[in-house]
Amino acid sequence: MSQKALVTGGAGFIGSHLTRALLARGIEVTVLDDLSMGKRENVPADARLIVGDVRSGDDVALALEGVDTVFHEAARVSIRSSIAQFYEDAEINLMGTLNLLQNCAQSSVRRFLFASSMAVYADSKTPDPISEDYIPEPISPYGIAKLAAEKYCLELTRQMDIDCHILRYFNTYGPGQSVTPYVGVITIFITRLLAGKPPKIFGDGEQRRDFVHVNDVVNANLLAMDTSERYGLYNVGTGRATSVTEISNLLCQRIAPDIRPEYIPAHAGELRYSIANIDHICKSLGYTPKESLVERIDEIIENCRLSH
Ligand SMILES: NC(=O)c1ccc[n+]([C@@H]2O[C@H](COP(=O)([O-])OP(=O)(O)OC[C@H]3O[C@@H](n4cnc5c(N)ncnc54)[C@H](O)[C@@H]3O)[C@@H](O)[C@H]2O)c1
Repeated sequence: MSQKALVTGGAGFIGSHLTRALLARGIEVTVLDDLSMGKRENVPADARLIVGDVRSGDDVALALEGVDTVFHEAARVSIRSSIAQFYEDAEINLMGTLNLLQNCAQSSVRRFLFASSMAVYADSKTPDPISEDYIPEPISPYGIAKLAAEKYCLELTRQMDIDCHILRYFNTYGPGQSVTPYVGVITIFITRLLAGKPPKIFGDGEQRRDFVHVNDVVNANLLAMDTSERYGLYNVGTGRATSVTEISNLLCQRIAPDIRPEYIPAHAGELRYSIANIDHICKSLGYTPKESLVERIDEIIENCRLSH
């Protein structure tokens, strides 16, 4: 059981939900976030916030003081912008991770959990769920950096005798998702519909995703924190496929039934099918996804309306 955790990126979407869950368990939490996307008000008052950069040795050394468990969530999170800004993507997502690992070597850290992504996989030809041994051949710079970071994490933590678990999140949704034009199709569509604008669908809308609620992602992290296994790599999803058109229909129906989506050309770097086979995490960690998109959607719409 962790006593003191570091959540990098803890002012962001997933990191702030995770921070609250750790605090609720009585764990002391330090958040390291440069607030490039995250917000100060997302960090609960009970957590210690260090405004700093995962690429800075001094910031990371300060944040790691007394920490036994690291949840590394900080990243530049955009497949699409990683194509033009591949250098910055790798600097933050890969070199930032290496800086953190380097500083773990001389620290009290015993366990390292890394937020990876479904973007590490090759594009799949069918919507069948893919398991962890599916071809790791990313089609975006973001996915390449995440895959390299995973490998460094697993290799270097073994050398340092630190436990390590890699969690490959699929499309995560939930209240408080950072609004950007690039990440979180559900939040992007809701934000557009609330402004009276049509959702923009890239390609034919038949691309399928595994939408997993942030509560389930947090729960996967807590299970990986608690397991007696020392090393692991898991998909974190639901195993269910939903097309972008289905999402658009659901949201149009709920928010603005007269609006029709606009179809525009597909982007490079985006996967056609991305659905998790979750057998491994279910068997190894006792994970079960509890949230359903249809049941949760009104809450997400309401949350976007309030922050609109
Ligand atoms: N949201 C998803 O669907 C999804 C899917 C797969 C993987 N992930 C991964 O989950 C993690 C969390 O993503 P999120 O959706 O909460 O995104 P987010 O943008 O809301 O959170 C990332 C946080 O990292 C911070 N950050 C960025 N660069 C930093 C730096 N150099 N130093 C310190 N902090 C920095 C940002 O300010 C932000 O608060 C990321 O590692 C992401 O790659 C997310």
